[in-house]
Amino acid sequence: MSLLNLGTTVAPENIRNESPRVISVSGGKGGVGKTFFSVNFATELRSRGYRVLIFDGDVNLSNVNLLLHIDENNRFRDFLDKKVGIDELVRKGVGGVDVIYAGDDLNDNFSFSDDELDYFAEELSKIEKNYDFIIIDTQAGMSDMNRRLIEDSEAAVMIANQEITSLVDLYKTIKLLASRKPGLPFQIVVNKSPNPERAVKIFQGVRDTLLANNVQASVQFLGFILDDPQRALASIQKRTPVRLLGDSGSLGGCFRLVADTYLKSNRPKPSPKPLFLSLFSRGGK
Ligand SMILES: Nc1ncnc2c1ncn2[C@@H]1O[C@H](COP(=O)(O)OP(=O)(O)OP(=O)(O)O)[C@@H](O)[C@H]1O
Ligand SMILES: [Mg+2]
Repeated sequence: MSLLNLGTTVAPENIRNESPRVISVSGGKGGVGKTFFSVNFATELRSRGYRVLIFDGDVNLSNVNLLLHIDENNRFRDFLDKKVGIDELVRKGVGGVDVIYAGDDLNDNFSFSDDELDYFAEELSKIEKNYDFIIIDTQAGMSDMNRRLIEDSEAAVMIANQEITSLVDLYKTIKLLASRKPGLPFQIVVNKSPNPERAVKIFQGVRDTLLANNVQASVQFLGFILDDPQRALASIQKRTPVRLLGDSGSLGGCFRLVADTYLKSNRPKPSPKPLFLSLFSRGGK
């Protein structure tokens, strides 16, 4: 199977012409596996016939293009200066996932202003009908830009690790976001987990801590990804998602399971108006 042709091997009836679901992937802490998850989860959805776009919200340190073997230059600065349209930013990653990323085209300390984010959202709404899912891989931490990207998504996938530092950051992040956007669903994935039981315990710990502190947040367990440094490294070095490695082992099984769980309750949905225009209104409501 050719990597680039993966998308053509799936049943066309799976392709739908409705507005996309917009999901952010965050977690508070750096290095927990947000980008690795985004890329592999997107590839799973794509392999089932869904049309997927990843926006690399880590605008200063774009990694999604690296992991999906995209080497072309982009023109993000020209895009923000309105010299090129958004379609010129869309790149095709290995496995058929589309990607928008800033790459080296912006200053090191670039952050979207509200106006730039409004413009980006408006432009994105022009191409959103091409997708079933838009996944926003976010930076670590809670910059204004990052917060808005998460708040303006319809669901926040949160990546946890078992370290106490990751769990404390996750708790603080959910508490902040839940107070700013009541009703935002949080879907927790425990990454780098030694086994499934540990992942469930971690999820229960986060949920119980939120309850004990009266944080009103809707949290769901989306699944676990095993700690598999060897395959993770192979995937990154080969710039190829786990599913497309010759032997994806249990790690590949974890991503399949997470996608199964996700798709059970999050099929693409009909929407009467351009989703991005309604989601990315200032204030995130
Ligand atoms: N399930 C896993 N098993 C083993 N290693 C993993 C796993 N998931 C991610 N890693 C490794 O963890 C490291 C960090 O991953 P990644 O860059 O995706 O994190 P991140 O949260 O996006 O980081 P940042 O906050 O810097 O954006 C990478 O070296 C990756 O190979
Ligand atoms: Mg990252």
